[in-house]
Amino acid sequence: MTDVMILAAGLGTRMKSRRAKVLHEIAGLPLVAHVLRAAFKLAPEAIFTVVGHQAEDVERAVREAAARLVERGAAAQPALQFVLQSEQRGTGHAVMVAREHLKGRTSPLILLAGDGPMIKAETLNRLTDVHRAEGNAATVLTVVMDDPTGYGRIIRDAEGRFARIVEQKDGSPAELAVREVCVSIYCFEVAALLAALDHLNTDNAQGEYYVTDVPAIMLEQGKRVGIFCHTDPEEVPGINTRIELAELDRKLRTAKLRELMLAGVTISDPATTYIDLDVEIGQDTIIHPQVIIEGLSRIGANCTIHSWTRLRNVTIEDEVTIRNSTVIEDCLIHTRASVGPFARLRMQAEIGEQAAIGNFVEVKKSKIGKGTKASHLTYLGDATLGDDVNIGAGTVTCNYDGVRKHETIIEDGARIGSDTMLVAPVRIGHGSKTGAGSVVTKDVPPDSLVAGVPAVIKKKLK
Ligand code: UD1
Ligand code: CA
Repeated sequence: MTDVMILAAGLGTRMKSRRAKVLHEIAGLPLVAHVLRAAFKLAPEAIFTVVGHQAEDVERAVREAAARLVERGAAAQPALQFVLQSEQRGTGHAVMVAREHLKGRTSPLILLAGDGPMIKAETLNRLTDVHRAEGNAATVLTVVMDDPTGYGRIIRDAEGRFARIVEQKDGSPAELAVREVCVSIYCFEVAALLAALDHLNTDNAQGEYYVTDVPAIMLEQGKRVGIFCHTDPEEVPGINTRIELAELDRKLRTAKLRELMLAGVTISDPATTYIDLDVEIGQDTIIHPQVIIEGLSRIGANCTIHSWTRLRNVTIEDEVTIRNSTVIEDCLIHTRASVGPFARLRMQAEIGEQAAIGNFVEVKKSKIGKGTKASHLTYLGDATLGDDVNIGAGTVTCNYDGVRKHETIIEDGARIGSDTMLVAPVRIGHGSKTGAGSVVTKDVPPDSLVAGVPAVIKKKLK
C-alpha cells in the first residue's frame, strides 16, 4: 500500500493567469486531474491534495476527476483528503501544513506536483519498488534533460550518490551545469519525512520552504536517500507557461488519437481532430477532419462523423451519421439515426432509432421517436414525438409563454405541415395532420386534420 500527496496550492505566476495553474486544462481535463489519474492507478489508501489558490475549485476538480474515474470502472477508491495551505510559502511548507494528516501513517508516501500531468503510474510503481528495495527514507525521481533551465539540479557526491538538490535561483554556475534534475516526484518514508520537515528553513534565494531540501536533511540525520533516474524526460515535465500547456495538450491528444486508430477507428486527419481522453469510440467509425469530441462521449461502431462537428458528453449508438457542422451536447442518439448538417441538439435530447434530424434543426430537451423526421429549419423544445412522425419545414414548438416552459406531444404517425406553430401545452393525436402555416393552440384529437390561424385578440396585456 502507498499514500499519495499532490501539491496543488500554488497560483502559478508564470501562467499569467488569475486561475490556479492546476485548473488549466489539457486534453479536456484540468492538470490536477491528470495527476490524479496516475495516482488512482496505484490504488493508494489515501490521496491528500494540498490546496490554496482557489481551494474550492481545485477540490471540486479533484472530486469530479475521482468520480469520473470511479464511473469509468477504477478499481481503487482511495480516501480523498484536502489540506488547506492558506499562504503559499513553498513546496516544503505545503507538506508542513499536512503534518497532522501524515502522523501515524506507515505506508510510503508518493509526493507529486499538481502541475506534472504526464507522469505514468508504472513509473511511480517502479519508484516505490526501488524505494522499498533500497530501504530508503527518500527516493528522488530524476531525469537528465537537454535543457535543465528552471529545474532543481541533482548534486551527487564523489561516489555518485545523492548529496542535495539545488534550485535554479540558488545554484552556482558549476551546479547549474548539471543536467540531472528534480521533477517534484518523490517517495518518502513518512516518519523520516516528518522528522526532516522540522529542520526546513527559508534561508534561500526565494525565502521559501523547499521540499527539495528534505532529502539532504535526511542524509544529515543519518538516513538513506536514493535516486531513481528515469529515462523518459517526456513523462515528467512540469507545466509553468501556456506554451508548455499547449505542447503537452498536443502530445496527449496525439497519443489518444493513436490509441483510437490502433483500436480500429478511422481518423482522416489527426492534425485537426480533437478528442478528449475519456471519449470512447467503436470500431470502424470514421471521423472526418476538424471534428471535436469532448467530455464523457461514447460513440458506437460504424458511425460517420463529418467535419466541423462538435460533440460533448454525447452517447451515440452504432451506425449513426452526424453530418457537417453539427453541435450536440448531453444527448443520446439511437442506432442508425442521422443528424445534420447544421443541427443543434442539447439538454438531454434523445433521438430515436433511424430518426432523421436535418438542416438547421434545433432539438432541446425532447424525445424523438423511431423513424421520425424533422428535415429542415425546425425548433423542437420540451417535446415528445412518437414514432414515424413527419415534421414539415419551419415548424416551431412554441414552448415558452414568457414565464414558463410548456410541453408539446406529437403522437405516432402525425404529419405536421410546413410552418406549423404548435403553441404549448398542446397534443397532436396519432395520425393527425396540420395544414401548412397552422397555428395550433388546442389539442388535436387522433386522425384529424387541422388548419388555419386563430390569431384573435384574447385579452389586454395591460
Ligand atoms: C519545483 C522544485 C524544483 C523542480 C520543479 C519541477 C521546489 C523548491 N522546487 O520547482 O526543484 O525542478 O518543481 O517541476 O520544490 N505548491 C504548493 N504550495 C506552495 C508552492 C508550490 O502547493 O507553497 C505546488 C504548486 O501548486 C505546484 C507544485 O507545488 O503544483 C510545484 O510548485 P512550483 O512553484 O511550480 O515549483 P517549481 O518552481 O516548478
Ligand atoms: Ca513547476
